[in-house]
Amino acid sequence: MASTAHAQRRGLSRGAPGRCRSQQLPPQNMMEVVGAMSHATQEATKTNRFQLENRRLPDSVLTEAILTMTSHASVRHYKPDPVPPEAVEAILTAARSSATSSNLHMYSIIVVTDGERREQLAQLSEQDQVRQAPLVLVFCPDLHRLERVCERQGYPFADRNTEMFMQAVVDAALAAQNAAVAAESLGFGTCYIGAIRNRPVQVAQLLKLPPRTFALVGLTIGYPARPAKLKPRLPAQVTVHYEEYSEDGLEEGLAAYDEIMASSGIYKNREVPVEGQPGVTRLYGWCEHSARRMSKPHPLRHNMKEHLQQLGWDFV
Ligand SMILES: Cc1cc2nc3c(=O)[nH]c(=O)nc-3n(C[C@H](O)[C@H](O)[C@H](O)COP(=O)(O)O)c2cc1C
Repeated sequence: MASTAHAQRRGLSRGAPGRCRSQQLPPQNMMEVVGAMSHATQEATKTNRFQLENRRLPDSVLTEAILTMTSHASVRHYKPDPVPPEAVEAILTAARSSATSSNLHMYSIIVVTDGERREQLAQLSEQDQVRQAPLVLVFCPDLHRLERVCERQGYPFADRNTEMFMQAVVDAALAAQNAAVAAESLGFGTCYIGAIRNRPVQVAQLLKLPPRTFALVGLTIGYPARPAKLKPRLPAQVTVHYEEYSEDGLEEGLAAYDEIMASSGIYKNREVPVEGQPGVTRLYGWCEHSARRMSKPHPLRHNMKEHLQQLGWDFV
C-alpha cells in the first residue's frame, strides 16, 4: 500500500522507465537553470526537483533517499485513514536515529492521534491540517530530562544558556526532518506546523510539557487527499556559496525566482500598484511577498523570548 502510494507520489521508482536519469550534466549557468525552472513550473506533473529544474544526473547519485527528499511538497489536505502502527513505529525510529549534539538527546516527541487533542492543537495553531491529519508529531527541545539526570547523579544543573537552547532546537529539528523524510518515503504526506508556536504557553499546558521544554514544531502526517505540487526553490546560485559567501548573481536570481513564483500561480490575483501611476501594476512575486512578511513582526510570535523564559528557558 504505502510503496504504491510512494511510487505514485514520486512519479518514479528505482529502475522505472521515464525517470529523470541520464548522463547529461547539470546546467551550470544561472539563466539556463532559471529558464529550465520557469518552463518546468508550467507543467504541474513534475514529481521531483530534478525534473522541475530540468537537472539530469547519473543514476549513481539518484538514490532512493535523494529521490524522496527531492520529491518533497507540503501536504495540507488528508484522508481520515489512520497511519498504521508499524508505519508510526518506523517513522519514530527514523526520528530517533538523527544525530544529536554530544549524544545528549535534547528533544522529546509528543505523538498526538486523539481527535479532541488535535482539535485543540488546530485551534491554538489555527491550522486546519492539524484537525485533518490522523497523526501529529510535536517536536520539543528538552533540557528538562538533563536537569533530572543532573539531580539523579547529584550534580548542579548549570549549563543552561543560549547555546544549550540552540543545541536543543537543532536536535529537535533534526529529529523532525528525519521523521518527515521517513514518512514521505512511505508515501505519506507531511506538513510542518511552525504555527504551533503561536501560543506556546497554552500548547505546553495542553501537552503537559514540563519546564525547560516547548513545542518547536508540529508535523502532520497522513494519506494525501489530493496530489501536492512541488514548489520551486530559489536558484541554487542564490542559496549555495562555494568556499566563501558571494552575492554575485543575487539580483538576477531574485528576479528570475519572482517570475517563476508569479507564473506558478501561487500569488494569483495579487499585484503591486505602481505609486503615482493609477491602474499600473508591477509583479507580485516572492520578493514582494517576503518583504511584506518581514516588514513587521509576526503578531503572535514577536515576544517569543518572554514566552520561552516563562517556560523555563534561559538566554544568558
Ligand atoms: C519550520 C517550518 C514551519 C512551517 N510551518 C508551517 C505552518 O505552520 N503551516 C503551514 O501550512 N506550513 C508550514 N510550513 C511549510 C512551509 O510553508 C513550506 O515548507 C514552504 O512553503 C515550502 O513549500 P513546500 O514544503 O511545499 O516545498 C512550515 C515549514 C517549516 C520548515
